[in-house]
Amino acid sequence: MASKIAEFAKKKQSLHGDIDHVLLNEEQIHTRIKELGAAVSKEYAGKDLLLVSVLKGSIVFMADLVRAIEVPHEIDFMATSSYGAGTQSTGVVRILKDLNVSITGRNLVVVEDIIDSGHTLSYLLRILQERQPASLRVMTLLDKPERREVDVQVDWIGFSIPNEFVVGYGLDYGEVYRNLPYIGVLKEEVYATK
Ligand code: PRP
Repeated sequence: MASKIAEFAKKKQSLHGDIDHVLLNEEQIHTRIKELGAAVSKEYAGKDLLLVSVLKGSIVFMADLVRAIEVPHEIDFMATSSYGAGTQSTGVVRILKDLNVSITGRNLVVVEDIIDSGHTLSYLLRILQERQPASLRVMTLLDKPERREVDVQVDWIGFSIPNEFVVGYGLDYGEVYRNLPYIGVLKEEVYATK
C-alpha cells in the first residue's frame, strides 16, 4: 500500500490546501515559546536540567524551545505509541524508544506537543516517577482540555485550544503535515470516512 506521503507527492497536492484555517501563526507560536523559554531559564538557573522530548510530534517545538532557554541543559528523547491509528487515542500506551540516560536524582521536564486524552502523559509520568528523578515537570505546547479522560498535572501550557483536529508545527495526520510552520485546523473532508 502506498504511503500518504507518496500519494501527496504523486498528486502534487498542496499541504496548505487541506487546511481550513490557521489556528496559531508562526509569530504567535514563537512569541509564546520565548515566554516559555524564559520561565524555564528562571526556574532552573543554577540547577541541573534534562529536557525529555516525546517523539515525534514535539521535535519542532523542542527545537525552538531549547534555543529560547538560556540555562545549560541536556536533552533526551522517548517515543511512545498508542495502539491503533487515526484521530482517536485508545488509552493503551507502549514505549517504542526509552531514554538513553539515567534520570535518578535529576530535574526533568517532559516536553509534549499536545495533551489530548492525557493517557500518554499519565503513563509516561508513572514510569518516569518510578526512576526517582529529583523533580518531574511537564511542558506542552498545546492542551485540549475538553478531550481529557485522565487527570494529569501540567506545569506549563503554551496554548489551550478547542477540540479541533490540528496539524502542523510537528503535529501530523497519517504522518503528513508535520512540516507546516503554523498550527492549522484540518479540513473535515480530509479525515472524514468516505
Ligand atoms: C500525540 C502527542 C502526545 C499524544 C497525546 O502523539 O504527541 O504524545 O498523542 O495524546 P493523548 O493525550 O490522547 O495520549 P502520537 O501518538 O500521535 O505520536 P506522534 O507524536 O509521533 O505523532
